[in-house]
Amino acid sequence: MNFTRKKGLKGEITVPGDKSISHRSVMFGAISKGITEVDNFLTGADCLSTIDCFRKMGIDIELNGQHVVIHGNGLHGLKKPDSVLDVGNSGTTARLISGILAGQRFNCTLDGDASIRKRPMKRIITPLRAMNADIRSINENDCAPLIINGRSLKAINYNSPVASAQVKSCVLLAGLYADGKTCVTEPELSRNHTELMLKGFGADISSEGKTASLNPVEQLYGQKIKVPGDISSAVYWIVAGLITPDSQITIRNVGLNPTRDGIIEVCQSMNGNLTVSNLHTEGGEPVGDITVETSNLKAATIGGSIIPRLIDELPTLALLACFAEGDTIIRDAQELKVKESDRIAVMVNNLKKMGANVEGTEDGMIIHGPCPLTGAVIDSCLDHRIAMTFAIAGINADGSTSIKGAECVNISYPDFYCELQRLFTI
Ligand code: S3P
Repeated sequence: MNFTRKKGLKGEITVPGDKSISHRSVMFGAISKGITEVDNFLTGADCLSTIDCFRKMGIDIELNGQHVVIHGNGLHGLKKPDSVLDVGNSGTTARLISGILAGQRFNCTLDGDASIRKRPMKRIITPLRAMNADIRSINENDCAPLIINGRSLKAINYNSPVASAQVKSCVLLAGLYADGKTCVTEPELSRNHTELMLKGFGADISSEGKTASLNPVEQLYGQKIKVPGDISSAVYWIVAGLITPDSQITIRNVGLNPTRDGIIEVCQSMNGNLTVSNLHTEGGEPVGDITVETSNLKAATIGGSIIPRLIDELPTLALLACFAEGDTIIRDAQELKVKESDRIAVMVNNLKKMGANVEGTEDGMIIHGPCPLTGAVIDSCLDHRIAMTFAIAGINADGSTSIKGAECVNISYPDFYCELQRLFTI
């Protein structure tokens, strides 16, 4: 797919439903009693993988556009799947579902695509084994495929070495099947959708600072869930609006959970003309509209506790920094190396191809801005967030930019290219 310089991105946009919340709605609905109805569900490939896994375990799930109805079978109602559970490209599915599978009364195998087979699973194997789980990596490399032999679990107090909502959620979900109170403490607070949503389903769960605690209950109960727009999808329009000349974009109904909204803070600190309006709460999650306009940007240093609050937005933030005056330093972001691709290496290589003055570091990158971009052939490495970031780079570069593997945006934002086209033809 090819991109050339554009200006004047104008209009309103609604981004697809939040990926993290969509995954959890299916998982929690499946292990609850009764019906869970979900509106504005993200129908990207990752969330469809979650649906597929639970259908294989006997859960009846109806999918009509963005409306999903899950006929839950209760905490102990999953059935042994007839075949391997295929999580596709989805790390969230792999890690969260492992917590649930560890406490079942059946054995199963979990696998995924080439990227999943490289992603670290030791981070969940270690705490699950401490809970008495029988989980192992078939190739003994601490990656998928994983064999999980469900059995009764012990509660633990886990001090996680990483700020990861996937690890935290995996342990808490296993805790639903454990013999007492399970606590997870993180080095920094990661997204808290599991804590918020499980409470709605009737779990005995609470949070204090960086610790979440859960006591097992007899049963969870189906809920109605309205999924807010995904701030991790909104970021492409936020950055496009800030860097593309003559632009003004309003993104409606974006989830602004304080554990996810670091990008707003950083854009404003970089002098970005970004305002939030119409703030309200939907289903326990804060939601609002974001308006951005073309801005004169300045560099920033981004590190510490804000990193988990914008981890998936960092590749796009690196692009933003190419348009800011001064040196932008991203640090404490070594987690980027173990995402769908090594996002430090892939961003640095591709930005350099476009002529940017950028260097990779052990835990992030330094961007010496402003650096005008020139079109190049970009390898997305089949990482959806890389493909979308470079589409926005391509419309702000001289010459032509082509993206290899551009179709991988299907993972989280199937309509992305249509929406981009629409914004510059309004
Ligand atoms: C997610 C947590 C984050 C994030 C991922 C979704 C989740 O991963 O990067 O896209 O839904 O819990 P980590 O938990 O590995 O930080």
